[in-house]
Amino acid sequence: MSTLNTYAPSPAWVANAHVKGEAGYAALVAEAEKDYAGYWARLARELITWQTPFTKTLNDSDAPFFKWFEDGKLNVSYNCLDRHVEAGKGGKTALIFEADDGSVTTVTYADLLDRVSQLANALKARGIKKGDRVVIYMPMSVEGVVAMQACARIGATHSVVFGGFSAQSLRDRVQDAGAVALICADEQQRGGKSLPLKAIVDEALADNSCPTLKDVIVYKRTGGKIAWVEGRDLWLHELTAAQSTVCPPEWVEAEHPLFLLYTSGSTGKPKGVQHSSGGYLLHAALTTKWTFDLKDDDIFWCTADIGWVTGHTYITYGPLALGGTEIVFEGVPTYPDAGRFWQMIQKHKATIFYTAPTAIRSLIKAAETNEAVHPKNYDLSSLRLLGSVGEPINPAAWEWYHANVGGGRCPIVDTFWQTETGGHMITPLPGVTTLVPGSCTLPFPGITAAIVDETGNDVPNGQGGILVVKKPWPSMIRTIYGDPERFKKSYYPAELKGYYLAGDGAIRDAETGYFTITGRIDDVLNVSGHRMGTMEIESALVSCTELVAEAAVVGRPDDTTGEAICAFVVLKRPRPTGDEAKAIAKQLRDHVAKEIGPIAKPKDIRFGDNLPKTRSGKIMRRLLRSVAKGESVTQDTSTLENPAILEQLGQAY
Ligand code: PRX
Repeated sequence: MSTLNTYAPSPAWVANAHVKGEAGYAALVAEAEKDYAGYWARLARELITWQTPFTKTLNDSDAPFFKWFEDGKLNVSYNCLDRHVEAGKGGKTALIFEADDGSVTTVTYADLLDRVSQLANALKARGIKKGDRVVIYMPMSVEGVVAMQACARIGATHSVVFGGFSAQSLRDRVQDAGAVALICADEQQRGGKSLPLKAIVDEALADNSCPTLKDVIVYKRTGGKIAWVEGRDLWLHELTAAQSTVCPPEWVEAEHPLFLLYTSGSTGKPKGVQHSSGGYLLHAALTTKWTFDLKDDDIFWCTADIGWVTGHTYITYGPLALGGTEIVFEGVPTYPDAGRFWQMIQKHKATIFYTAPTAIRSLIKAAETNEAVHPKNYDLSSLRLLGSVGEPINPAAWEWYHANVGGGRCPIVDTFWQTETGGHMITPLPGVTTLVPGSCTLPFPGITAAIVDETGNDVPNGQGGILVVKKPWPSMIRTIYGDPERFKKSYYPAELKGYYLAGDGAIRDAETGYFTITGRIDDVLNVSGHRMGTMEIESALVSCTELVAEAAVVGRPDDTTGEAICAFVVLKRPRPTGDEAKAIAKQLRDHVAKEIGPIAKPKDIRFGDNLPKTRSGKIMRRLLRSVAKGESVTQDTSTLENPAILEQLGQAY
């Protein structure tokens, strides 16, 4: 790491941050080491308002099904809204919503509480109650946040499905969750275009494929033409209009499932990651406070979509739990031009900006080709802190972000975490950590991240290994919905001594002990910060039964998207070349978009008469990875059944 620049926090940062300097960090780590449960109990009492205080902190009697604060009762929406209004902050701006076309709506805490309460009452009037699952398929909108909070208010468990997923993906999720209601919009507005949502819902629910689902509640975003199913479809504005703005919160046990969020694993269908109410809220609030150093006068902007975990924790829950003010953006970073982010930071005087490396890399490219959208043309002096999430950030992108967006003065928190972890796990703290580009540095205080070998033994710094978390933590995944065995197998494999398996490889610097994530160790890809299983994409390809005989999917590095999806396909007809191959490749991409969503479209498709297999019939994936990268194959191919196909696979379409 010695060749990289390092950036120590300024004295002002050390003096003013919530966690002050290395001494402040060390004191917290020591507190957690001395009395682990006591540490989390203290924070849970400080950050959360409990209706019934908890007396038990951690119950590990049924490990790895851990319980936190189990006899305490709370309501997440009460913690995000009512308590701020009760404290006299009802007039404070909670959300600054900027639409695709640039129009802005602000919503105060008092307004937000009214709207959440009205929708909560409407849901109750439809018979939706504590424990029911509600799927949310919404664009980035105030209504999306309101829908999530309204579910939390009545104790219904929400499952948000990203608006880019296909009808088939939506159907799978509605079915797996056994959802009773679905909240969607007529359309979404992105990059100057209206895109369907309700039409995809109609397709997902066709042929009575989701019998548990009774209500489809539609938010009118664009007023575009949509089909209507009488008796099932309901306008959101009609349902809420007559409802009272008072809705007493449903007090739930700390372990009550706040939400399910489906994410990809290395095998099978996406899994419904189940999160709790109390432990999850604690970490959402605590990490927002310490990692982002959120203060009362900050304007916080997380650019993630509420369809991903980052949007859950750092839009819907963390900043609101602390009574913060945040920006919610409907559009895309490149519309009307690639200066949109910088223009919005300037316009709203954002102080904290949290985005993904993919976005940064694509905006670097845009600024290189078009001077006018370079951040130097905008007044970004309001910024005091930057963040990165979702994938490793390469040092060059880090340095550009630091110099051109942060003006050289804003620390960057490179936050490593996952859907399963609920919030930040390994991250710098801005008033503490000397930053090294490309490293997520050290564990958040209380998080026992470590690097071990295949048998769970610690490996020395400087030597790579498997990233684990040794002790349970409050915001951890509770189970995979409906599949506790898969939960155990995926995250607590027997050979790892009861440690949580993150699924990433990592290495710690020999001198500093800083962590660098080296990438997934399973068959999960990270494309533009979106997580996808290679098996899922393979299944989607082979489901094109009229064309595809066999498919294998691997990732390869990509300058902009981090990883790119590369598919190797054997057709049921002779191997195509030239224009015919191009046309079939397009057909296959469209098929994958229909099965999963456009984000899963393979970038490269390579056709072969067969796939490279060992004589025992195993697909040689390592070899495919080399081919995908365009490397000359140096591996031993003597076990290859049919070496000639390597040449065929050299051509990508
Ligand atoms: O591989 C790691 C990568 O993203 C995975 C988690 O993806 P997901 O559950 O979709 O959540 C993304 C947003 C939290 C991890 O297993 N990842 C996430 N953050 C980083 C990262 N890799 C390197 N550095 C990060 N900061």
